[in-house]
Amino acid sequence: MNVGIIGSGGREHAICYMLDKSKKVSGIFCFPGNAGTSLIAQNVNLDPDNFSELERYCLKKDIKMLVVGPEKPLVNGIVNHFKGKSIRVFGPDKISSKLEGSKIFTKKICQKNNIPTSKFKICESLNETIDYLKNSYFPLVIKADGLASGKGVYICKNFNDAKIASEEIFNGKFGVAKQILVEEFLDGEEMSYFIVTDGKNYKFFGSAQDHKRVGEGDTGKNTGGMGCYSPSRLLNDHLELKIKTKIIEPTLKAINEHGGVYKGFLYVGLMIKDGEPFLIEFNVRMGDPECQTILPTLKTDLMDILISCCDGTLNQSKIDFSKFKSICVVLCSKGYPEKFENNIEIKNLEQLELLENQNIFHAGTFKTKTGIVSNGGRVLNFVSISEDFLKSRDEAINLIKKLNWKNGYYREDIGHKVIKI
Ligand code: AMP
Ligand code: GLY
Repeated sequence: MNVGIIGSGGREHAICYMLDKSKKVSGIFCFPGNAGTSLIAQNVNLDPDNFSELERYCLKKDIKMLVVGPEKPLVNGIVNHFKGKSIRVFGPDKISSKLEGSKIFTKKICQKNNIPTSKFKICESLNETIDYLKNSYFPLVIKADGLASGKGVYICKNFNDAKIASEEIFNGKFGVAKQILVEEFLDGEEMSYFIVTDGKNYKFFGSAQDHKRVGEGDTGKNTGGMGCYSPSRLLNDHLELKIKTKIIEPTLKAINEHGGVYKGFLYVGLMIKDGEPFLIEFNVRMGDPECQTILPTLKTDLMDILISCCDGTLNQSKIDFSKFKSICVVLCSKGYPEKFENNIEIKNLEQLELLENQNIFHAGTFKTKTGIVSNGGRVLNFVSISEDFLKSRDEAINLIKKLNWKNGYYREDIGHKVIKI
């Protein structure tokens, strides 16, 4: 079967790599992909948010399934566009995607179904927010309701921070804002838990922890993710049961009651406090860099999983992961997440020899006639799996050193909570 993948990051290259290994997949098309995907698939420069154009292209190339990497096309209703047509789309429909598209929608589901999450207040105007903040304890968290490319969350230490955040949001920094979310600050340790679901049944799809801050020791500015380790050190059977029964199952039930059909990956972002899980957020897709960290440990054919989700037969399939510890170290452009240069040649990349337990997933790369150049802040993901986190990290970093890209920057301490040296 010919498959299309929407997106251009490390997550999509990892999905592309896993699908390329499947006997069920004959051709792969990436919309638009990156230099890494171009080595195993055909990159297509077409706007994936133009669903009609995408559909015409899929029909022309006999693409029978689309896998959606990022949230935007899902929130915009790509699944609804293709409903009843000959092309399957792996991902949740428009109603289900509101779990990521509207933080207030999710909070209301939590409230109605007693799903553990931070206490919150929805404010309808700047004046109402300021009045509420005057009587609040700090720190607290202010969030824009809609999609904000990961930038709509403000952790506020005091009233002044919170006032600035509210003004930015109501002044339209992330689009027209009619409401704002003010949340209690949760203290604890974060964990990302993933499932895959066919709308009726769901299965575990890995756990991980990403490192969002740019600097060693989790300091400095927020980024799209500087690295990740999987599995999470916090996961155990007792906690997992709580995550499933208190958070995932009531949410999937609520989505059904709203008339949604949730097929695809669900990313459950959690804060764990004294052994109790609290929902921070849902994402209606795999995480990045969690996806590229988890997928190399998947033993089951990914295409089989995607087909069974689309066809509603997930209960008949078994999903197996290896017991390996996976580490992903992200190589960024110097200066990221602030100013950085693009179009810097990455020499030696194609000459690097990888062992079976190693992968390099491209993110911000572009293939020119003469070689591969950088094309974004997060450029390459170095992933290594082994029986030991330290070994995995050492191997990933050794590869980065061998590449010796002078414009690169990476964190040496990814996974520091599971690696004590
Ligand atoms: P979100 O986009 O909702 O995941 O928020 C981004 C990050 O902000 C999360 O990964 C947390 O590190 C942090 N965060 C969000 N909400 C809270 C909260 N209520 N308490 C503490 N930290 C939070
Ligand atoms: N790793 C965070 C995200 O994918 O949203």
